[in-house]
Amino acid sequence: MSAVDYDTLIPNNVDLSSDARLKRALEKWYPQYLDWWKTVGPEGFQDCEVYLRTAVSVDRDGWAKFGFVKMPQYRWGILLAPREEGRKIAFGLHKGEAVWQEVPGEYRAMLRRLIVIQGDTEPASVEQQRYLGATAPSLYDMRNLFQVNVEEGRHLWAMVYLLQKYFGRDGREEAEALLKRRSGDPDRPRILGAFNERTPDWLSFFMFTTFTDRDGKMQLESLANSGFDPLARTTRFMLTEEGHHMLVGRTGVARVVQRSSEVMREQGITDPHDIDSVRQHGVIDLPTIQKKINFHFSVTLDLFGAEVSTNAANAFNAGIKGRFGEPRINDDHQLHDDTYPVEQIIEGELKQVNMPAISAINARLLDDYISECANIVISWNRVIAEQGFDYELQLPHRGFNRQVGEFSEHFVSPTGELITESDWVQMSTDWLPSVADGDYILSLMKPERRAGHFAPWIAPPKAGIDGKPGDFEYVRIAASSRN
Ligand SMILES: [Fe+2]
Ligand SMILES: [Fe+2]
Repeated sequence: MSAVDYDTLIPNNVDLSSDARLKRALEKWYPQYLDWWKTVGPEGFQDCEVYLRTAVSVDRDGWAKFGFVKMPQYRWGILLAPREEGRKIAFGLHKGEAVWQEVPGEYRAMLRRLIVIQGDTEPASVEQQRYLGATAPSLYDMRNLFQVNVEEGRHLWAMVYLLQKYFGRDGREEAEALLKRRSGDPDRPRILGAFNERTPDWLSFFMFTTFTDRDGKMQLESLANSGFDPLARTTRFMLTEEGHHMLVGRTGVARVVQRSSEVMREQGITDPHDIDSVRQHGVIDLPTIQKKINFHFSVTLDLFGAEVSTNAANAFNAGIKGRFGEPRINDDHQLHDDTYPVEQIIEGELKQVNMPAISAINARLLDDYISECANIVISWNRVIAEQGFDYELQLPHRGFNRQVGEFSEHFVSPTGELITESDWVQMSTDWLPSVADGDYILSLMKPERRAGHFAPWIAPPKAGIDGKPGDFEYVRIAASSRN
């Protein structure tokens, strides 16, 4: 069944009307969700008509329809990718057995933990991005922000559906707790570190959607082949939406890089390191963009957990969480005797160590993630080169600025040298954004609300949303939101 029922309070393709208990539980949760959205979701603009896409089917093509919607009236719903008849567990100890339609008792705690952690990231990012609407560099960007926000809200719905349907009373309690934790709140923070960081400006937003949403994608990809079929189907559809979030990030940073490089060329600035000259012209210098990459990339790597991990091995053996692209990997999908190279620090030196592949599941996912990120940085560097500058942005070494895993006890420079703690204290200010850098970026965050206009620190996008022309009014600013 791929059609979505929109005649009910909660749009869905899971035949919600035939499950009275679940329907009641979700209808009880809905007002609490709306309350959360209104208190810590996007600040302002709730009365504005925003040109948003809404999922109307889960077919690969034509799944979304675009139209003007006020955000609180967005049709958040429950959408699962179609069921594949006869699907078998693709990896782990149960490989070849039929997938589970109910939670297997022995893996209940593991599954609940994975779903809660994934679920917690979704509202967290909405909270982190709460104040960005006010400083949007264009209506196009404002619309993209709100699109990301409503879809992260829907991803929360997706996880809450699984908790409410399959986990009984403690699932309902977890669903409520997901609305109670708050990003950055010292007393009841979100579960993972990167989701308690601030997203105070638009460059941070673009970095977050490039790097941190992409961690989300990797996690969802490894759940998309889960032996627990409802989880696999839920995450598959979430991935359809996730693509846009990462596009917003990658093209957002590219547009910032483009504008900075154009201005340097126009103003005759030949040295991109001449920060003061660049900043005089109201754009973000490339070295500061590099520092932002260093920060967002390194805090996101921590989200993958320890490279060598028993939890990850257990989840793989259980058939609950696989690897990125599991079906395409050419091995036995059980990893009885396989090894995998993991970068470690042994006696003060960086070394590749062959570990049992089963314990290196996270290390492998991290490698897959890093290679995707490397390609993105290459695409940004192309933009710089097109403007005639010899300057390359780079991903920092995976050991740089880490709090979790193999490198958490060590100090590693962006280029991968092991350094002392005192060197780190001295030099890390050159590698990570300073308060002054943040203040400078914030000083540029002046809203631009005329259709087709863009703030001077960012280039226009190459194409509009849904084929709309450059001067399309993506957000109709309500009188109550004007200032
Ligand atoms: Fe999400
Ligand atoms: Fe996302």
